[in-house]
Amino acid sequence: MAVVDVGCGPGAITRKLSSWLGNESKIIGIDRDTTFINYAKEKARKQNMYNISYLEGDALKLPLEDNSVDACISHTVIEHVPNKEFLLEQKRVCKSKGRVSVMYARPDKYIKTEPKLLPKQSEREMELLDKLFKGTDEMYKKYNVGKY
Ligand SMILES: C[S@@+](CC[C@H](N)C(=O)[O-])C[C@H]1O[C@@H](n2cnc3c(N)ncnc32)[C@H](O)[C@@H]1O
Repeated sequence: MAVVDVGCGPGAITRKLSSWLGNESKIIGIDRDTTFINYAKEKARKQNMYNISYLEGDALKLPLEDNSVDACISHTVIEHVPNKEFLLEQKRVCKSKGRVSVMYARPDKYIKTEPKLLPKQSEREMELLDKLFKGTDEMYKKYNVGKY
């Protein structure tokens, strides 16, 4: 099957998908951050993962044909883009009966469809998120990634 990881970043999930789904599958990682794409390409090459390809591109204008893949996945990307356009673009590239899986982790930037159903953020969650973001800001500066 062909699976796209939209906003793949450094490609950790694409590499997992590659080993889970095996050589017959086709994994495509897409991100608009060149530094992440170059890192992911190098990492997959070193691990002999030849069924993954990486493309630099915008999640809102995926460089893929209509109805061309079996599934799209994304992890902590929807928080950064307009939700509806992001989802419609994945619907466009998925074959009929394809699947779109969206994972997200920012309680302060929930998907806007059902705000009343969402749990409140606890103080501990806020404390941990704060710690996490301070750490990632430093990482982004150090490795020149995270523009988007
Ligand atoms: C929090 S990171 C998650 C990376 C990866 N999915 C993971 O879980 O390791 C968000 C990623 O979305 C990418 N991104 C944000 N907006 C994008 C867009 N419009 N098109 C493509 N990638 C985008 C960023 O460059 C970044 O790599």
